[in-house]
Amino acid sequence: MPDGKEKALNQFTGLEFEPEISQDDFRTTMSRFASGLTVVAALDEAGLPAGLTCQSFASLSLDPPLILVCVGRGSSSWARIEGTGRFGVSILAEQQRDVCVSLARRAEDKFDSVPWRPSPYGTVHIEGALATIDCRIGTVHEAGDHLVVIGDVLDLAVRDEGTPLLYFRGRYGKATFRS
Ligand SMILES: Cc1cc2nc3c(=O)[nH]c(=O)nc-3n(C[C@H](O)[C@H](O)[C@H](O)COP(=O)(O)O)c2cc1C
Repeated sequence: MPDGKEKALNQFTGLEFEPEISQDDFRTTMSRFASGLTVVAALDEAGLPAGLTCQSFASLSLDPPLILVCVGRGSSSWARIEGTGRFGVSILAEQQRDVCVSLARRAEDKFDSVPWRPSPYGTVHIEGALATIDCRIGTVHEAGDHLVVIGDVLDLAVRDEGTPLLYFRGRYGKATFRS
């Protein structure tokens, strides 16, 4: 490759410096990604509901069916869920903002005002969610201050009606869908 072209390529691909990314810039940039919201939850070893609000949820694989969630390493709720080997994901509906806020708190009484039900898999479903996905905890990757948790899908349920709770620029909202 001619010298000049190689240099030009390195300009884009070679990282010969440590990038300086401020946490504020990172948060602000990521806030431009609109998403739905979920609750990741299970019954802990004492049979009590443990769960957290989770934006970082994605479909990962169709065959086999896998999903992923990213959980902060400091999550006390995840510490209680992890040992059970299972978790349920509830995809929140537009009216479930209060559920989302309650379950984003670090508190003992998180579930007191949240309507939920246990599933046959030992997971927890939020009443009124648009869909639920029950998972076995598969591979867990450590990545920075989070864990990337891959869930082997055990069961699915969907509601036919309802619209999602959305999150964008630190605010909750709803979408309008054209038919
Ligand atoms: C809108 C929103 C989205 C969130 N998404 C995530 C997420 O994807 N992963 C995560 O670990 N925490 C997320 N959190 C924070 C957790 O819900 C919160 O840190 C956790 O519930 C703390 O309590 P815990 O110690 O009981 O886990 C989110 C919070 C809010 C308000």
